[in-house]
Amino acid sequence: MKILVIGKNGQLGRSIQKLILNFDRHEFTLVGREELDLSSSESISKYFDTHSYFDVIINCAAYIAVDRAEKEADLADKINHLAVKKLAEFANSKNAKLIHISTDYVFDGQNESLYLESDNPNPINVYGKTKLLGEKAVLETMSNNSIIIRTSWVFSEFGNNFVKTMLKLGSEKNEINVVSDQVGSPTYASDLAKNLLHIISNDNFNKKSFPTEIFHFSNMGETSWSDFAKEIFKLSNLNCKVTPLSTEKYPTTAVRPKNTTLSKEKITNHFKLQIPSWQQSLKECLNEVM
Ligand SMILES: NC(=O)c1ccc[n+]([C@@H]2O[C@H](COP(=O)([O-])OP(=O)(O)OC[C@H]3O[C@@H](n4cnc5c(N)ncnc54)[C@H](OP(=O)(O)O)[C@@H]3O)[C@@H](O)[C@H]2O)c1
Repeated sequence: MKILVIGKNGQLGRSIQKLILNFDRHEFTLVGREELDLSSSESISKYFDTHSYFDVIINCAAYIAVDRAEKEADLADKINHLAVKKLAEFANSKNAKLIHISTDYVFDGQNESLYLESDNPNPINVYGKTKLLGEKAVLETMSNNSIIIRTSWVFSEFGNNFVKTMLKLGSEKNEINVVSDQVGSPTYASDLAKNLLHIISNDNFNKKSFPTEIFHFSNMGETSWSDFAKEIFKLSNLNCKVTPLSTEKYPTTAVRPKNTTLSKEKITNHFKLQIPSWQQSLKECLNEVM
């Protein structure tokens, strides 16, 4: 299969790049902002005018600066919504399959239990709203042959993320305050990348046609930011005390949902996936960082 991966320089994009070095089953094309700028409708049209055949498109690119999005709503909308609509239109016109990555931030965080794909989204910040509009554009444009994968709390050895920030802070300070009343499901980008490769080899994905559906993916288990930080320090032998802090005491430009733990039951059953716990994958990631 000819597979296009958009967002090659991000955490997920780089994790896919790393994996496919030893994977010669498909022909991959990976693009970044330089080749395909999702904020420009002309750039998208121009790219697909000259690269018109793909079996599968995986969109890992997004505007993910949650706080900045509050002031750059138009730009976030162009990348997370309007560009996604164009990608879906292109995929539809060429009978290509589209895997689009979305977020737990489409939820308001008020659930007391794990979020199911059938739960009603109700984003509470601009980033979440633009990502939800992107999902809706895919669902409206492609009734078949797309999957939307919502993921959460992504970490990896690449780029900037919570794990790398904690490693830096933990080596500089003896004590830090970390929010303890937001809970979610951490996702090692490498696990998502591996499972995307499983999915594209799965019979359910390789049917000539299947109805477009939403799935949730993260590592197994859930945690709070403060317990996540404690585990990072424990596994990397950093002697830094974590003091739990309430969200109220740590105001941010964009409001964050309190609980976005995702149920993985649907995706594991549908594509026969085995997903490791976040603690197990955190160990693996820390080995890569070291
Ligand atoms: N990170 C998280 O905690 C998290 C949580 C939930 C869901 N997600 C979703 O997971 C997916 C992957 O996220 P990630 O963590 O890999 O994000 P990331 O590391 O920030 O990567 C996003 C990529 O998108 C690219 N991009 C941004 N604007 C672009 C534009 N105008 N044109 C083309 N490319 C553009 C960036 O390019 P540059 O490198 O050039 O800036 C970057 O490489 C996204 O859909 C995100 O919404 C992430």
